[in-house]
Amino acid sequence: MEDRPVSEWPPPDLDLGKPTIARAYDALLGGKDNFPADRALADYAIANIPGLRESASENRKVLVRGVRYLAGEAGVDQFIDLGSGLPTVQNTHEVAQAVNPAARVVYVDIDPMVLVHGRALLAENENTKVLTGDVREPAAILGAPELARFIDFDRPIALMLVGMLHYLAPEISHGVVAAYRDALVPGSHLFMTSLVDTGLPAQQELARITRENLEEGYARTPEEIEAHVGPGFELVEPGVVFTALWRPDEPVDPAALTPGEQLGMAAIAKKVSSAG
Ligand SMILES: C[S@@+](CC[C@H](N)C(=O)[O-])C[C@H]1O[C@@H](n2cnc3c(N)ncnc32)[C@H](O)[C@@H]1O
Repeated sequence: MEDRPVSEWPPPDLDLGKPTIARAYDALLGGKDNFPADRALADYAIANIPGLRESASENRKVLVRGVRYLAGEAGVDQFIDLGSGLPTVQNTHEVAQAVNPAARVVYVDIDPMVLVHGRALLAENENTKVLTGDVREPAAILGAPELARFIDFDRPIALMLVGMLHYLAPEISHGVVAAYRDALVPGSHLFMTSLVDTGLPAQQELARITRENLEEGYARTPEEIEAHVGPGFELVEPGVVFTALWRPDEPVDPAALTPGEQLGMAAIAKKVSSAG
């Protein structure tokens, strides 16, 4: 885990000519924390994938609904947001702390820019931390002293892999997610969203564009997404569904989803026992 000084910007190893996941996603959301290479990739993907921009915005909306549910109805007050992304509107800590001002949030992202922007945003917020780390290395993240000082692993935690599962290669994803699940006590929750494969060509096409330009990118069937929920966990209603259908604020007709609304699925599961 790296704790880079804020003054070191741009970081010496930052290659502005190459897009990153965090910056390209920021470009898709219409943010300002991105460079020409990120915008070029976002534009290329938007031109090839119908509804991509809308899908990114739906992902942010379900993040907000999910965190509101976790901090409210589920009563969780500790959040580890893996692959948290660059700060945007309605970040996890803002949503959780609007429900429960004492909620603690740790953001983890591989992109050094997330740390720099996060620190600037969170300078005044004692209940939120940003760490740089690779989600594919659960032992390093779970063993980080900064995390242990801040999060009580003897109490329920919401572990978030929102917009993140699809960057974990199939060969490693089950082991990686299981390592995080195993660190949680009953009462904890796992919140995932992922690029899905329900047979629409745009879904695998987006995975291909992502893999070719950002190294990782996989579209999974709903069953493959659900397989990451694991033993000892129970899916919270409505289960693994297109993001727009996960507890929408207004009724949504499942038969009238747009192409963009059919790119991603969401799921929240609760740990009910330590068995398995
Ligand atoms: C599509 S963004 C999602 C951001 C936010 N969670 C959301 O759903 O709006 C994916 C984020 O995961 C981060 N990421 C991708 N692979 C990662 C890894 N192996 N370890 C840590 N972060 C990673 C990227 O840097 C990016 O910020």
